[in-house]
Parts: sequence; structure tokens; C-alpha cells
Amino acid sequence: MYIVPSSTAYNVSRKLASIFSCNVSGVVRKRFPDNEMYLKIIDDVKGEDVLLVGNTRGDQDIIEYLLLLDAIKEEEPKSITAVVPFFGYARQHMRYNNGEPVSSKVFTQAINQYADRIITVELHDEQTLNYSKVPFIDIKIINPIYKYFMDKNIDFVISPDDGGYERVKLMGSKLGIPAYYIDKKRIDSTTVKMTLPEEDYKDKNILILDDIISTGGTIIKAAGMLKDKGARNIYACAIHGVFANNSNEKIERYVNELTVTDTIETKYSNITISGEIAESLKDKISI
Ligand code: R5P
Repeated sequence: MYIVPSSTAYNVSRKLASIFSCNVSGVVRKRFPDNEMYLKIIDDVKGEDVLLVGNTRGDQDIIEYLLLLDAIKEEEPKSITAVVPFFGYARQHMRYNNGEPVSSKVFTQAINQYADRIITVELHDEQTLNYSKVPFIDIKIINPIYKYFMDKNIDFVISPDDGGYERVKLMGSKLGIPAYYIDKKRIDSTTVKMTLPEEDYKDKNILILDDIISTGGTIIKAAGMLKDKGARNIYACAIHGVFANNSNEKIERYVNELTVTDTIETKYSNITISGEIAESLKDKISI
């Protein structure tokens, strides 16, 4: 078995290799004189189970991922598992307006041309799973987050919107604490009204848990409201730390601690998802 890392997922690749006791293949990355991407897999993956680990977040990342899939397939491996810790473009999982593409379908179907299965983590919307003809597994990350926060004396866990309520309910029941969500209503295209549930937040340690932090607007608003109510410590946690426009710098001013998983590798990635990915693969590949 081999792991081929895209440049977006070296750490998760190494961690998976250590769990499976297998090699991480070398990859040569260069640019042609016209700046097109050149890639070459160094190890011989013929007849092997291969995991290609990488994200489809930025446009370059998608090109790299698809080229690596083709490079692997050309070597005639035994199987290809597409491990995509952060499945980018997943927010456009349906047509909102005429003339738009269904982006998550495009990338799912492209990966389908090569892979025997796809594994991802906390997809934005499970509709995307239906676009795949090969098995497509969406892993939920609860235990590693629970383990990280279990000793931090959290009093409440709160989701910044009702969409994340199931996640915080699960976390709350593991931590043995109440779980709430903030009522979020869109007033117009630029205004969102957020209302905290009636609770006593004074001097409480509160965990805000979300699936993704992008511009940071949601987390900052939630943290600001909790601070105004007298919360003592605010821990912000998300599965995917996109941190668009360096929003992490602003978020840090509002929270006591910012933590994300390593689906996207950042300096806040204190929680790894590699154990959960390995677990989901146990009975699917020969180790
Ligand atoms: C919303 O549906 C999501 O759960 C996140 O709350 C949202 O995408 C976060 O985005 P931002 O960081 O840009 O506010």
C-alpha cells in the first residue's frame, strides 16, 4: 500500500502512513516554462492499494489532485482511494440560480473517473454524496474533538446556527453539558440577525463549534455576543479552518482559544482527523 500526498495534505499523509505502516510516495513537482504544473510520482505503485490524500480547496489544488489521480491510474494500481479531507466547492452543491454549475457534482464525477472510493470529512451538504457512482463516505468528526475538550471544563457547547445543532447535541451529550444553537435569520443580502438562547452565560466557559470557519464573520459575531453576556472563556472550534483573508487574526482577538482539525493544515490544527480516516478504511484495503 502507498500513500500519495498532494501538496495540501503532507501531515495527514504522514500520519496515515504511520497508522498503516506504509510508505508515502515521493512526488516531483515542477513548473513547465509556461507555468503549467508538472508532477511525477516517484515510487512504483503498480498493483498497490493507493490512497491519494489532498484537498480540493483552491483551483490549483484541484488541478494537482486530478493530475495525480491520472498519474496513479496510469501505473495500474490495485485500487485508488481518493481521500479528500476538505472537499472544496461543496457549498455549490445545487443550482441556486439559472446558469450556475453544480460545482460539487463536477469534482465528484471527475474523481469518479479514477477512484474506487472517495472518503471525505464533514461535507457541507450530503447531497454531494448522491453525485458519486463509486462509494463516497463522509466521516463525522466527534471523538477527536471531544478528547481535545474533555478536560477544559466547558459549561456549554453552542452552534452558531441551527444547521449545526445535531453536532453540538452529540458533543454536549459526550461532554455531559447542555448544547444550544444561535438563531440566525437572514434579514437581507447583507444583514444577518443572530439571537442567543436565554441562558446565564456569566463566568461560563463556552465552546462554539461549527463545521467551517471561512471569513470568520459567524464565529466573531457569536463570540462577541457571548462576551457581552459575560462569558469567561470562549473556545472556538471548527472542523475546517479555511480562514479566508487571514480571518484567523481577527478571530483571535475575540476568543480565548481557536482550534481546528487538520483537514486543512494550519497552525490551529490541534486535532487530527487521520485516526477517523484510517478507521473508515480498515476493512476496505489490504494492509
Ligand atoms: C454555515 O452554514 C456554516 O456552518 C458556517 O457557519 C459558515 O459557513 C461560516 O462562514 P464564515 O466564517 O464566513 O462566517
